[in-house]
Amino acid sequence: MSTIKDEINRRRTFAIISHPDAGKTTLTEKFLLYGGAINLAGSVKGKATARHAVSDWMEIEKQRGISVTSSVLQFEYDGYCINILDTLGHQDFSEDPYRTLMAADSAVMVIDGSKGVEAQTRKLFKVCVMRHIPIFTFINKMDRDARDTFELLDDIEKELGIATCPLNWPIGSGKNFKGVYDREKKCIIAYSDTEKGTKEGKTEEIAVKDEAKLKALVGEEAAENLLSEIELLDGASAEFDLDEVRAGNLTPVCFGSALTNFGVEIFLKHFLNMTTTPLPRMSDSGLIDPVANDFSAFVFKIQANMNKAHRDRVAFMRIVSGKFDATKEVRHVQGGKTMRLSQPQQIMADERKILSEAYGGDIIGVFDPGIFSIGDTVCAPSDKFAFEGIPTFAPEHFARVRQLDTMKRKQFVKGIEQIAQEGAIQIFQEFNTGLEEIIVGVVGVLQFDVLKYRLENEYNVEIKLENLPYEHIRWIENKEQFDISKLTGTSDMKKVKDMKGNPLLLFVNSWSIGMTVERNKGLILTEFSKN
Ligand code: G4P
Repeated sequence: MSTIKDEINRRRTFAIISHPDAGKTTLTEKFLLYGGAINLAGSVKGKATARHAVSDWMEIEKQRGISVTSSVLQFEYDGYCINILDTLGHQDFSEDPYRTLMAADSAVMVIDGSKGVEAQTRKLFKVCVMRHIPIFTFINKMDRDARDTFELLDDIEKELGIATCPLNWPIGSGKNFKGVYDREKKCIIAYSDTEKGTKEGKTEEIAVKDEAKLKALVGEEAAENLLSEIELLDGASAEFDLDEVRAGNLTPVCFGSALTNFGVEIFLKHFLNMTTTPLPRMSDSGLIDPVANDFSAFVFKIQANMNKAHRDRVAFMRIVSGKFDATKEVRHVQGGKTMRLSQPQQIMADERKILSEAYGGDIIGVFDPGIFSIGDTVCAPSDKFAFEGIPTFAPEHFARVRQLDTMKRKQFVKGIEQIAQEGAIQIFQEFNTGLEEIIVGVVGVLQFDVLKYRLENEYNVEIKLENLPYEHIRWIENKEQFDISKLTGTSDMKKVKDMKGNPLLLFVNSWSIGMTVERNKGLILTEFSKN
């Protein structure tokens, strides 16, 4: 019988990040296929259908053809129990993916080989680098014409500031894609298109030393190119070092083609070998170890109205330590209450499975009657610690919100506050006035549409949004030392406060931020709210 420790140690929890269209869905489907979670028939769907199958939660998703919410998948492979957190990488979207990263122990980054690191996802990748989350890179679509391999790696190093270590090396691309050179085994794995097969096809391996065979397989020119590239690579690329990978300073890179099933299983195996068991998390009583501690978890995401048929709200929790047993009570630290979590479930796409137990590393969704906030801790009734909060990312777009029908003030305030509590938007008030004027801040502009849509559909309130010119927001770190009303800023600066009453400043450009700091000696402004 497996112990709690065994169960935790076989878990691997990672986020999958990519620019839209790089192949994240296809790669995830292949992972699930290897794990036997889905059968091939119908698994590789047209994009439109695949998207809808994955998440059909909101009408707006269908209209936009993008996935608005992140989902969680769990599957078994080779004795591992794997949790994939799907983040979406749309620049116009929310800070949800950033929060999702807080629940992951590592990240798989999918890059389209013909494009390299794309602008829209740079920020998401950078959050991983900032947080020192180990990143594993899969350069996809090698069956299509790709950019120069050295250039692709250079791009990752320059754009993200992380060293790369290719585990394999592509031989050609597009019509001339012949396979990959495995650097460890020093052999060529010949490309085979197994799109229609059930699993990765039988691949032929040829020792790179066997020049005659190599040339026969890939052609004279490609063979010579490869040999010189290998020489260059061995001289130029970073040495493989697992500690550096785990510290998030070095990313192992594999090349392949998710669509044609080439290189996916090898990548998955490498990844599972190198990534970590569930990692501890910091709390106000020190590090909480997954194995040594009783059950504990933190809320990283709240999702309302996932299913229109039952108007409900689900809090997603990452289990940090111990075993979750649905029959036992837990303490909700911030609420100061002991309770039983209601309808704990594993949510896979739009299917839900009620759970009776789960372990450190797992993600569970629980019914939330409106008591949880992002960052909250639940733990065993005898424990009292709270996990470190999840940072709030600075919104970059602001708008003033007005309700069209002033009779519906109550619904409006309730709706906007609930949506803000979920973390879908941030709301601010003018510093000196009451709730009359509400300013909404978002990380991506699409969130404005989602807010409008949800207020209309879920709360029956119509609103008008008036865009404001601000692009930067700063929290005042040493607010106790400053009388905010006496702060002297630039003429375009605006003083506001957040839901907790913290004073903040909005700026049109970064020059004004500098001026304001200069004019108020000792003022410390920060980009993240720490609480
Ligand atoms: P995403 O989740 O990152 O947004 O990407 P997704 O997997 O949906 O893939 C985007 C498109 O790229 C899809 O084509 C998919 O079939 C294709 N694709 C994914 N991996 C590969 C690959 O290794 N090689 C090639 N050639 N194509 C790949 P689509 O035309 O947009 O949709 P579909 O109708 O063909 O599925």
